Amino acid sequence: MTFEKNILCIGAGYVGGPTMAMIAHKCPQYKVTVVDINPDRINAWKSEDLPIYEPGLDEVVTAARERNLFFSTDIEKGIKESDIIFVSVNTPTKTFGEGAGMASDLQYWEKTARQILDNAESSKIIVEKSTLPVRTARAMERILTSRNNHIRFDVVANPEFLAEGTAIRDLENPDRILIGSRETDSGREARNEIVDIYRNWVPEEKIITSNVWSSELSKLVANAFLAQRISSINSISALCEKTQADVAEVSKAVGMDNRIGNKFLNASVGFGGSCFKKDILNLVYLCRHYGLEEVSNYWESVVRINDYQKQRFVLTILEAMFNTLAGKRICLFGFAFKADTGDTRESPAIFITKKLLDEKAVVNITDPKALENAEADLAGHNGNVSFVKDPYEAATGCDAIAVVTEWDIYRNLDYEKIFNSMRKPAFIFDGRNILDYKYLYNIGFNVYPIGKPKLTHFTKTN
Ligand code: UDX
Ligand code: UDX
Repeated sequence: MTFEKNILCIGAGYVGGPTMAMIAHKCPQYKVTVVDINPDRINAWKSEDLPIYEPGLDEVVTAARERNLFFSTDIEKGIKESDIIFVSVNTPTKTFGEGAGMASDLQYWEKTARQILDNAESSKIIVEKSTLPVRTARAMERILTSRNNHIRFDVVANPEFLAEGTAIRDLENPDRILIGSRETDSGREARNEIVDIYRNWVPEEKIITSNVWSSELSKLVANAFLAQRISSINSISALCEKTQADVAEVSKAVGMDNRIGNKFLNASVGFGGSCFKKDILNLVYLCRHYGLEEVSNYWESVVRINDYQKQRFVLTILEAMFNTLAGKRICLFGFAFKADTGDTRESPAIFITKKLLDEKAVVNITDPKALENAEADLAGHNGNVSFVKDPYEAATGCDAIAVVTEWDIYRNLDYEKIFNSMRKPAFIFDGRNILDYKYLYNIGFNVYPIGKPKLTHFTKTN
């Protein structure tokens, strides 16, 4: 069978895998190949047990796999055979040298560009899918044109806005598709080729085009704005706790203003995930690089408030439990950075567990999907920690439960049974504000939500 287009994606991660599966699913006329340097990942994509958990992903992958969706480690062959190459390799925060802890580490990105150059035998469109610092396309172009071999490369920026846990829904029905290119004839032509792919299922008015720099920057800014809303409401949650206001009531009242909107206003233990912190720090670094100190400080405060919120959560636990956690058992409900994913990258749970272990608490972690990752995240950290699939078993004998991830299953557990299995006084710290506090209080728990009055059975005299 001959296909209309040969599409390659380098990087079979959380972004590359689901995005390509959706393109293959929606466009049976294209051949879509996903390659990765990691053979275990590729084998997992070929198996029944996919390397990432995403609701609905299995169905989409199974429908297209071996029909027009292929997974392989042969990156060189993939490059030779493709017309369009999406690059979705990871761009973590640099851990060394200039910009360490802030700037993006572009080594995988540059290595991939060179790999494309070394193996390409025909002209290609290169699509930046990974989130990158603004002006990365220029570096990419400079590498790709460093040999005068008459092969043309057009670099297009098409950032991915999917959120984990809802990736399939977001891919199927995106708010917008953004495609940026050079404003030259060939740049616009390349951009239109990418527009053609998405047109197969995304309404025309949702596909927007821009210059390549705006496109690169928009991704960083979208993530920074989303994270900023969370830090804003989390900062207010601290004030609520001091004033008897209820942060949920405040966010409802504020969010009903059409101009503000009601999304991303849930106070929490802090945001996590592979993108928010990394992208904001990247923005901070870029602003500083361009001498915009005030702008850079402004955005850095979003990350600082997030750190403060995580810290505050642990301090609330410590203070509520009589300023000592040594030897006490604390059960973490959830370890993933949000519900419906097994991903734990930058999860607040990592920070919280380490702090609790530093206080010499015994920590029982339960999570429906993230226990394997949790174990890897905590490897090498000293302390008494165990990983238990069943939440009832995990809570048994504990002094406290800390809800860290808003998994639905935690909303409807038999808390009476749980209370009876715990040591008294029993505490619940709800880092996601998902539980029914009055009900828990009536069972006998001492309840500490975020940004709401606590409900305890302690009186001034006892
Ligand atoms: C990553 C970034 O975190 C995100 O900012 C960006 O938008 C897209 O890439 P994600 O897909 O979640 O997102 O990363 P990850 O799951 O780590 O996947 C990257 C994949 O690229 C890995 O499977 C890795 O093995 C692969 N890779 C990395 C290569 O194939 N070649 C390389 O040189 C480096
Ligand atoms: C984010 C962006 O939403 C997505 O567009 C981008 O492509 C990648 O980064 P993701 O990190 O997968 O997606 O998840 P998201 O739903 O944005 O949640 C990020 C963090 O914020 C999670 O830890 C979540 O629990 C937290 N959060 C979210 C809150 O604490 N409160 C909220 O109101 C919303």
